[in-house]
Amino acid sequence: MTETATREFTTVGVIGLGTMGAGIAEVFARNGFTVVGVEQNDTGLERGRQHLEHSTGRAVKREKLTQEQADELLGRITLTTDMKELAGADLVVEAVVESLEVKKSIFRALDDIVRPDAVLATNTSSLSVTEISTANAKPGRVVGVHFFNPAPVQNLVEIIRTVVTEPDVLADVQELLRSLGKNPVVCGDKAGFIANTLLFGYLNHAVAMYEGKYASREDIDAAMRFGCGYPMGPLALLDLIGLDTAYEILDTMYKQGRDRLHAPAPILKQYVTAGLLGRKSGRGFYTYE
Ligand code: CAA
Ligand code: NAD
Repeated sequence: MTETATREFTTVGVIGLGTMGAGIAEVFARNGFTVVGVEQNDTGLERGRQHLEHSTGRAVKREKLTQEQADELLGRITLTTDMKELAGADLVVEAVVESLEVKKSIFRALDDIVRPDAVLATNTSSLSVTEISTANAKPGRVVGVHFFNPAPVQNLVEIIRTVVTEPDVLADVQELLRSLGKNPVVCGDKAGFIANTLLFGYLNHAVAMYEGKYASREDIDAAMRFGCGYPMGPLALLDLIGLDTAYEILDTMYKQGRDRLHAPAPILKQYVTAGLLGRKSGRGFYTYE
């Protein structure tokens, strides 16, 4: 699978600066890349800016970065609502909501904006990378690049190759991710890829257990933390992921595989409908300041 890298990446576009996109923008900026972050409106942009300032502020407090390094890092990131500012990007990472329609519209629009040799990546957790890629005139340059949450912390990135992803694109992206200190693994285009296929049945089961009042949320989470050594319990992890995103992931996996394990627990949809999205909205299974 190792080919020699052919591209040099210096400018990276990130579309969507939510839970994942802000972290992905930070990862690239930390490694010296020029980053153009795109949001759909000023509210999204302001939220993205706050994410970035909060995360770098924490690194300064923990003495992982000096204030000067944090300022330099933030100075490498331009924030905009205009996708046309991606014209100079060598790589674009799309990290908008888990919706096939929204993602396809972005990959379609990128045709008229980016250079023909730019690589286009989607951070989708479960949607078909092949289907997203066909919205672009050059599907061979499209690849799944699935970062894990929180992106600045988790070292895994799944690279999803479609049947038409060009081998040099795959090789270049692998090398790029390694240069960021990430540990890339490669897999085919099936809903859930490797990790979510294994993880989400477990998370969904925990929600069903909570919904059935079998145990309290604290005890479900404590069981997996203290009994199995997981860094977080499943309900706290779902709050970190975002319940809307988790619901979409399960729904897509269920529709593709028809495995009951992935049929979203009904309470998950109810929480999403009620606006309880987890950490990002201040309340999910738990409440946050
Ligand atoms: N952004 C940036 N950095 C963060 C962060 C964030 N949101 N949250 C924590 N960190 C950093 C902290 O600054 C700290 O860094 P240093 O060690 O350099 O000081 C480090 O992470 C540890 O943080 P804390 O001490 O505050 O907290 P912790 O030790 O409890 O770790 C955690 C927090 C990293 C989130 C840890 O609990 C964890 O790894 N949880 C599991 C997360 C997980 O399973 N992620 C995968 C979800 S599935 C997915 O992502 C795929 C999908 O498609 C849904
Ligand atoms: P999120 O809801 O936190 O953020 C999505 C962001 O996209 C929002 O800020 C929204 O304003 C923005 N957006 C929506 N439409 C846009 C558009 N047309 N142009 C620009 N910005 C737009 O979602 P998230 O959790 O960050 O998920 C983003 C992607 O990453 C999804 O595909 C998700 O499946 C995937 N993912 C999520 C996680 C996770 O743990 N949350 C982990 C890995 C991958």
